[in-house]
Amino acid sequence: MTEPLVNQPVTRDPHHPLDPPTEYTRLREDQPIVEVRFPNGSTGWLVTRFEEGSQVFSDPRLSAKRPRHDTPEGEVDEAAPFDAGFVMMDEPEHGVHRRLLTGRFTPKAVQNKLQPYIDRIVDEHLDAIAAGPETFDFVQAMALPVPCLVICELLGVPYEDRDGFHEATVDMMDMGKSREERDKGAHWLINYITDLVAEKRRTHATDGILAELIDKTDGADAVLSERQLIGLGVLLLFAGHDTTAAMMGLSTLTLLTHHEQREELMEHPEKIGTTVEELLRYLTIVQFGLGRVAKEDLELAGARIKKGDLVVVAMNAANRDPRAFQDPDTLDIDRKMARHMGFGYGVHACLGQNVARAELKTVLPKLFQRFPNLRLATPLEEVPMDFTGTNYGVRKLMVTR
Ligand code: HEM
Repeated sequence: MTEPLVNQPVTRDPHHPLDPPTEYTRLREDQPIVEVRFPNGSTGWLVTRFEEGSQVFSDPRLSAKRPRHDTPEGEVDEAAPFDAGFVMMDEPEHGVHRRLLTGRFTPKAVQNKLQPYIDRIVDEHLDAIAAGPETFDFVQAMALPVPCLVICELLGVPYEDRDGFHEATVDMMDMGKSREERDKGAHWLINYITDLVAEKRRTHATDGILAELIDKTDGADAVLSERQLIGLGVLLLFAGHDTTAAMMGLSTLTLLTHHEQREELMEHPEKIGTTVEELLRYLTIVQFGLGRVAKEDLELAGARIKKGDLVVVAMNAANRDPRAFQDPDTLDIDRKMARHMGFGYGVHACLGQNVARAELKTVLPKLFQRFPNLRLATPLEEVPMDFTGTNYGVRKLMVTR
């Protein structure tokens, strides 16, 4: 391999907190794929265009069983301390495991079983905001509690444990921390789910996905090992709340700084569907991209990839590719799009996407209807952004109602 061109991670420009790193724009214009050096010193490839990125996610010669490419400098990649489940499996094994859960996540299941609950908790949080101080932190008042409540309801996790599982998730996903600190977060989550599963077995619980998965682990026709069950519980708990919370805070910030688009949405609440898709494209919260590993030598967009090479797709750059989206750097809530990479792409595209959509489509219109004068309490430059988390978002969002 020749000298890598780019050192990862390329970080965002704090002066343009809603845009992908400016360096990506140059890379994307120069060539579809470049050689990179990852933070731990290993080398691989980075894809910044949409078409080539979608090829990476669709090509069975590239495996989802990958090392962590964003491991901090000097540390050696190791597998996560828990079984990361089907997110790291290839077909046909991946499909077998994913199908254990898909029934819970269809648009119909979400609409019938979860939407009334989401409506209720969002209204309760809006009431609490109305009764509280005029200036408040939107993250603590809405963006964090609503996704936590929803994942607790889905999985059968007690909501009073939210501080523990959220802090552990933040530690585990913070690439600014050492591996020791991140693994501490992961171990907290493993121990927590292990104890919860034991408790559910003891009480023969029937409340939610964890209890359903226990049934698939025990008995003669078991399809999951105990380690896989715990891994799935951990995956759903962290993937199901931190992502949506990040997206909710960042979406609110974006609408608060795009006045015409916000007013258009307030006048036409029926545009919430296209608004949410556009926010997912525009913001693309997966901060350091997603990797796949070559199972054999192959050629991709003219680059010779060797067996074992790690290929990372910078989805935030791909979702701003002018070859795929007209005027990609403009937020346009009327945009008609057939596809984007906000939830990933291909067989691994987010399992929980209909849940996340339901939460965002409920919160955003209700928030601006209830508080039409909602505004930022600090200038955009002073909003603390999370530049090191696997999910990009706001750490705090002070607003005035
Ligand atoms: C706005 C919120 C969300 C975003 C941006 C998001 C993003 C993603 C992305 C990019 C992937 C692809 C991973 C890969 O290809 O390696 C993914 C997969 C996944 N997500 Fe989400 N997610 C969100 C919400 C949720 C929720 C609410 C849940 C659960 C309730 C969830 C559960 C999962 C699971 C289980 C996978 C693995 C799917 C597979 O490998 O087949 N996500 N998500």
